[in-house]
Amino acid sequence: MLQVNHNQEEVLKNDSLDRTETILVIDDSQANLDFLYITLDCAGYEVLLDKDGKHGIEQLKSKQVDLILLDVIMPKKDGFEICSLLKSDPATKDIPIIFMTAVTDAIQKVKGLSLGAVDYVTKPFQEDEVLARIHVHVKLRRLNLELDQQKQQLEQRVQERTAELSQALEELKKTQLQLVQSEKISSLGQLVTGVAHEVNNPLGFISSNLHHASQYVQDLIHLVKLYRQQFPYPGDKINKEIEVIDLEHILQDLPKLISSMRLGSDRIQGIMHSLRKFSQMDGDKKKTVDIHDGLETTLMILQHRIKAKAQRPAIEIVKEYGNLPQVECYPGQLNQVFINILANAIDALEEGVGNRQWGVGKSPYPTPQIKVCTTVDNENVTIRIADNGLGMSESVQSQIFNPFFTTKPEGKGAGLGLSICYQIVVEQHRGQLNCISILGEGTEFVIKIPAFGFQS
Ligand SMILES: Nc1ncnc2c1ncn2[C@@H]1O[C@H](COP(=O)(O)OP(=O)(O)O)[C@@H](O)[C@H]1O
Ligand SMILES: [Mg+2]
Repeated sequence: MLQVNHNQEEVLKNDSLDRTETILVIDDSQANLDFLYITLDCAGYEVLLDKDGKHGIEQLKSKQVDLILLDVIMPKKDGFEICSLLKSDPATKDIPIIFMTAVTDAIQKVKGLSLGAVDYVTKPFQEDEVLARIHVHVKLRRLNLELDQQKQQLEQRVQERTAELSQALEELKKTQLQLVQSEKISSLGQLVTGVAHEVNNPLGFISSNLHHASQYVQDLIHLVKLYRQQFPYPGDKINKEIEVIDLEHILQDLPKLISSMRLGSDRIQGIMHSLRKFSQMDGDKKKTVDIHDGLETTLMILQHRIKAKAQRPAIEIVKEYGNLPQVECYPGQLNQVFINILANAIDALEEGVGNRQWGVGKSPYPTPQIKVCTTVDNENVTIRIADNGLGMSESVQSQIFNPFFTTKPEGKGAGLGLSICYQIVVEQHRGQLNCISILGEGTEFVIKIPAFGFQS
């Protein structure tokens, strides 16, 4: 009686999924259920049957169903109600529904389609037609599922790629920072080397000539004194000139003048030496140096910012230097760390004193102060640089090592200082850089550098 067309089924099922597709049939007529069960089962589908819809809908929760065949007229809930219910639930709304209607009822067909059904089959059933329609929709359903899956995979790949790219961007930013950093050091180094060279020659004449000048002056003074002893009465003309030029004063002042000129030229030589040391190019080689030298030259370079200004007193520098060993490091880079942290401390104090909240209620009224302490233990040399400026909030503190983070007005801060410091201390020297800050009280930066060598 019922003949299943296996050829057609074979053709249409050739490209099937790995799993058997499941079709849920909801119909109150046992005869229809029997017919559809045999037809679909023979066509290779897994078939679930249900007489009133309620049980069938329950099954959808636990079983994956690929298509629903739904009768329209049923005693408890009609097909349209069930269809609306399924379409309103996100879990079932994508399962294709095919209505089963009487041949003659055009209104039912239209209503079914308008409620979201994909197709209809007419009763009495034409087996070939039913199967053909079911195959088409099952195939469409399968393609849709595959498409969804591919979309998800694609989205995931896009997400992964985006993450990779952001990471690459971060790396790029860091590298750029490093380049800027080493470029800065090397151009500063070149500048200072050039200036030092230009200044050194004339400075050389001055200091070596001063040496002779001082000798000549002493000789001349000695001679004048001798003359005065030998010829106590040189005559009116000379006596008058002695008075005019105030010879006594000249004889007293000239040696002092020469020695203060020598002091000045020595000082310039000292500064040039410090500058050359500060900006020495590190190259790829570590050097063994005294960290205090670096701190001292840095403080000297910042001297002009430490002095008293119209709006604030001088910043007091308190040094508590420990007995440090010579440390293997990149000294030019460490100087860069010191200058950045010290310059930030000066900025914080400058802003603090300018800000009327600073020092309020404190007795005695505080002096702006920067404390530089050094200590050593079994592992590290520790350098603490603390200021009694305004300090920072926790949210600022959590971002200070991020490149380009700044709270300073445009043009004043680029927000690079501390991220460069972090790189130099943590990545180049395998050390640690930490910040302790209390809003309104001050800030301390703690730099730890391995005291006995490190692998970079
Ligand atoms: N000693 C300090 N006291 C208060 N805030 C500080 C101190 N040092 C750094 N900061 C905060 O960290 C931020 C980032 O510092 P930095 O990376 O050197 O960039 P910049 O100095 O260009 O702003 C500063 O803008 C400031 O808000
Ligand atoms: Mg800075």
